Amino acid sequence: MSGSLIVVGTGIRAGHLSQEAVSAVRTADAVAYCIAEPLSRLLVDELRKEVAKPAAEDLHRFYADGKPRMQTYRQMVARILELVRLDLQVAAVFYGHPGVFAYPSHESIRQARAEGYPAEMLPGISAVDCLFADLGVDPATAGCQMLEATDFLLRRRHLDTACGVVLWQIGCVGHGDYQGSGYDLRHVPMLVEALLAFYPPEHEVVVYQAAHFAMCDPTIEYVAIAEMFRAGITAVSTLYIPPLLVPAIDSQVLKKFDIATFRGTEG
Ligand SMILES: C[S@@+](CC[C@H](N)C(=O)[O-])C[C@H]1O[C@@H](n2cnc3c(N)ncnc32)[C@H](O)[C@@H]1O
Repeated sequence: MSGSLIVVGTGIRAGHLSQEAVSAVRTADAVAYCIAEPLSRLLVDELRKEVAKPAAEDLHRFYADGKPRMQTYRQMVARILELVRLDLQVAAVFYGHPGVFAYPSHESIRQARAEGYPAEMLPGISAVDCLFADLGVDPATAGCQMLEATDFLLRRRHLDTACGVVLWQIGCVGHGDYQGSGYDLRHVPMLVEALLAFYPPEHEVVVYQAAHFAMCDPTIEYVAIAEMFRAGITAVSTLYIPPLLVPAIDSQVLKKFDIATFRGTEG
């Protein structure tokens, strides 16, 4: 059994591909990818050509309009495992960070290890990394809670309004299938209603989309939470909700720490 698996991410745009991801793509016997952004896909294709290795195969072929996304993900995992079982060193490439809101990458590693193959993941630059940079948000300041939008509704999860909140996949909230040309937003009002249980309607949120190409600007729309559906929400939009209030510092604890100041105690 000489097969192995390395799962890497391309980041959100072509310039995000790390040196170690480049090396993994070059050295693998077989590459399978699912990358929506065309320049990153081209870059991986070029890397394979440079080392005269077989072209990467596209896992995107498993998607089809109206098909349950989970079925597609399982087929991707099955194909990746098929390659590993052929005793190939396989690189599976996904966009962004391959382990952030990405089922097939984690699942293929889990299955490969369960079958005794070495398997690892390399980190990549995710949408939330771009969000922190573009919106000037430091998660150290107020903390940061991250949830998937459908999961938030289905499980009636609690939001910590003293934290910044990042809600992923707002553009396909309530949809389990794939729609290549974009999802209808019929469940967004339900999302807004659930958010209004935690925030006043005028609380300003950000509907965010990181730029997919260098030199392009991100899309940043500030909108009152009750008016969120007016923003241009797409399948790659992420919602950022700034904190409502910052909890006061416990002076007793501060005293025990014996530190003169901490962020928020200076003024
Ligand atoms: C299946 S997840 C994949 C996330 C990806 N693995 C990553 O590391 O960013 C898809 C979700 O990621 C977020 N996303 C993807 N691309 C984005 C972009 N360019 N800007 C903002 N959010 C994005 C959206 O919330 C989208 O619904």
